[in-house]
Amino acid sequence: MTERVEIVEVGPRDGLQNESKVIPAAAKIELVDRLSACGFRRIEVTSFVNPKRVPQMADAAEVLAGIARNPNIRYAALTPNLRGFEAARDARAEEVAVFGSASEGFSQANIGCSIAESMERFLPVMEAAQGAGLPVRGYVSCVTHCPYDGKVEPEAVADVAARLLEMGCYEISLGETLGRALPEDTDAMLDAVLQRVPSEKLAGHFHDTSGRALDNVAVCLDRGLRVFDASIGGLGGCPFAPGAAGNVATEGLALMLQERGFDTGLDMKRLAETAGFAKELRA
Ligand code: HMG
Ligand code: MG
Repeated sequence: MTERVEIVEVGPRDGLQNESKVIPAAAKIELVDRLSACGFRRIEVTSFVNPKRVPQMADAAEVLAGIARNPNIRYAALTPNLRGFEAARDARAEEVAVFGSASEGFSQANIGCSIAESMERFLPVMEAAQGAGLPVRGYVSCVTHCPYDGKVEPEAVADVAARLLEMGCYEISLGETLGRALPEDTDAMLDAVLQRVPSEKLAGHFHDTSGRALDNVAVCLDRGLRVFDASIGGLGGCPFAPGAAGNVATEGLALMLQERGFDTGLDMKRLAETAGFAKELRA
């Protein structure tokens, strides 16, 4: 039987959060609805963050209210604190994500606190999510490079990933925020992380600034990871990682996985059409 690799679609959130052009909620809703027809099991729709810092995500509740929900898909949202969690729950997010960093500089720039403080902030989110029966995903940003602190030690990544797992995250997504990792950087990072977190609890999240994202995915596949985040049309970037490009493009990743003999469960024709739609949104 063909082995399954899951792509988690993060385009509506990671892809669109950095767009300076205002994209109406209706267009975001249409993007999510088109993605819902492509065969994904998880779609990250939006984030409940300070709208002054990420204006593009200010319509989070409106977007979640407008999408046509497919019962086979979990629609997720980023929630950095309890306030974000409560808003996401009220908007009927079906999964939430907390997001920490392996580097202090990015933690401060992104969420305004140290790594240790962020872990404290996540605890009430974990507790509330458990009470509401919602799964929580954990992100670690800057797993190889940080835009502020430079190269990141693999042990620092392993520490944060292990901490997120311990506090109850069902999966840890390893964020290569800058998109500058070489395959050997990813390999060294995984050497440390896999000693603390098993591969079946990990996902790869690669931005593609240097065009090496697919090579980094290949390293992760060799090390047993079977879940990867991607963004339709390669949209995106992070407002707090200047110069970073979007996530690896979903349609390119799906093709690479297919060529390697993995089953993604995705409809390639619909993916290509939706990638076209996604690119038009920013035109
Ligand atoms: P803060 O500034 O540390 O905390 O915010 P605060 O409690 O002092 O709040 C400041 C203001 O934010 C206040 O408003 C709060 O009410 C408001 P003001 O009084 O100035 O009008 N506020 C909120 N508003 C809406 N929803 C909330 C919320 N919480 C506070 N939940 C906070 C902390 C994290 C909220 C803030 O720093 C923030 O929003 N940062 C943006 C983080 C973000 O969205 N980053 C991009 C996503 S992460 C990413 O892209 C990386 C990833 O893709 C993986 C990878 O590639 O590495 C996941
Ligand atoms: Mg990202």
